[in-house]
Formats: sequence, C-alpha cells, structure tokens
Amino acid sequence: MKRRPIMAGNWKMHMLVAEAEALVKGLVAGLDGTEDVDVVVAPPFPSLHPVGRLLDGTPIALAAQNMHWEASGAYTGEVSAAMLLDVGCRHVIIGHSERRQYFGETDETVNRKVKAALAAGLDPIVCVGEVLEERKSGRTWEVVGRQTRKGLEGVSAEDAKRLVLAYEPVWAIGTGETATPEQAQEVHGRIRGLIGELFDDGIAQGLRIQYGGSVKPDNVRGLMDQPDVDGALVGGAALKAESFLGIVKF
Ligand code: 13P
Repeated sequence: MKRRPIMAGNWKMHMLVAEAEALVKGLVAGLDGTEDVDVVVAPPFPSLHPVGRLLDGTPIALAAQNMHWEASGAYTGEVSAAMLLDVGCRHVIIGHSERRQYFGETDETVNRKVKAALAAGLDPIVCVGEVLEERKSGRTWEVVGRQTRKGLEGVSAEDAKRLVLAYEPVWAIGTGETATPEQAQEVHGRIRGLIGELFDDGIAQGLRIQYGGSVKPDNVRGLMDQPDVDGALVGGAALKAESFLGIVKF
C-alpha cells in the first residue's frame, strides 16, 4: 500500500510575521509538481493567523507547534484547539522533544493533548524519539514504544486514522547528524507494528510516520526510499523556501 508522503516544516521559535509571510509566499510560488505530497508548515503562534490567510486556497496546510488540552478557561499563556482551528490550522504538533526536554511535557500531557486535538477536529502530528544515552544503552525501542503506547492511550480506532506520527531521535535534531535510513527504518517498522497491535493492521498500514532530525534536500531521498518512512518533519531546512521545497520535491 502506497501512503501519500507528508512533509512538514516546524519553524520552532523563528520568524517574525513579515518573515513568515515572505517564506510562505516563496513556498506557494514554488509548489509546482508537488501534487502527490502533503505539505504542512508550523509557524509560531503570532504568525498563524497571517500565514493562514496566505495559505487559504493553496494546498499547503497550517499546523501549530503546541496546544493545551482544556477547551477554555483560566490558563494564562495557553492556546486551545478551537483557537487553532479558528485561525486555519488543520494540524498540531504534539510532544516535540523540545517540549518534553524544556517545558515539562510528559507522556501523560501528550496523551491529553492528542485526545483533545482529535476531539476538536485537529489532526495531531505526535512526536516520539530517544535521547543519545537511551540509544547508546540499547533502550531506543523501550522509550519510543512507551511514548507511542502512552501517547495514544484511549484513542479510538476511528480517530487513529487521522494521526501522523513523527520519529525524531533527539540526538539527530539540529546536530547535522541524521539517522541513517536503516536506523530510521528499524524504528519506523517497529512503530507500525505497535500501531497494528494497538489498533489493527489496516490502520497501521494507512498511518503515516515522518522522520525528523537534520533532514536536508540531500539526505531526504535515502530516508524516503525506506518502506516505512512516509515523510519528514523538518526544522532548520524548513526556514528557507529553496531548501524546504528541495525536501518536498525529494
Ligand atoms: P532539524 O531539522 O533542525 O534537525 O529539526 C528537526 C525537528 O526537530 C523538527 O521538528
């Protein structure tokens, strides 16, 4: 079964509004020949609304980088799923390793956010991945399997069809040290196997699993050649139209 590739740019904490608008205009202008790929951009919160307007009527989908699980209330500094939908988001990244490392995100908060996003109508991109010590000590699958299992606890089979997973080994993020295609494939294959156990084989076969961590135009092809790699979640190389388009057109 051929899954439709999905390439997402996670802009992290980069880009003022004018820069975000210029980048997205460059992407829209260069999209020709990418009809077979889903393209997603995830700007910081202040740029979601203006970028969403520019993306209206284009094939590029808008994503947020985080959200809160509650629908509304006294939660200073937080943003709800309804607010993200209101400014044009289709997706939300949940459980990025930077949120786990620096902002106290846990498997439990990831799970709450995943369920809230799905219930509200956002399609989550759920991130999992091990740190270097965990890989070195042979615990990669113990960690990634746990993050996947707990992150998706209580999700219905129907909702699971709307998920995208992103395997991002933390040691490969922003380091220039990409996982080899074989390293990525090994984990992606195991994630797909686990999805088959948690839901069913049809859902596992339909689920798209992105790889993230130093993806560049010159290494994306080898990763995408792997049977269980269905796209990329791109940080640094998504900040320039030329390099992100190079990845989208792998
Ligand atoms: P880099 O592509 O900069 O390594 O970042 C990957 C990432 O964290 C995407 O979410």
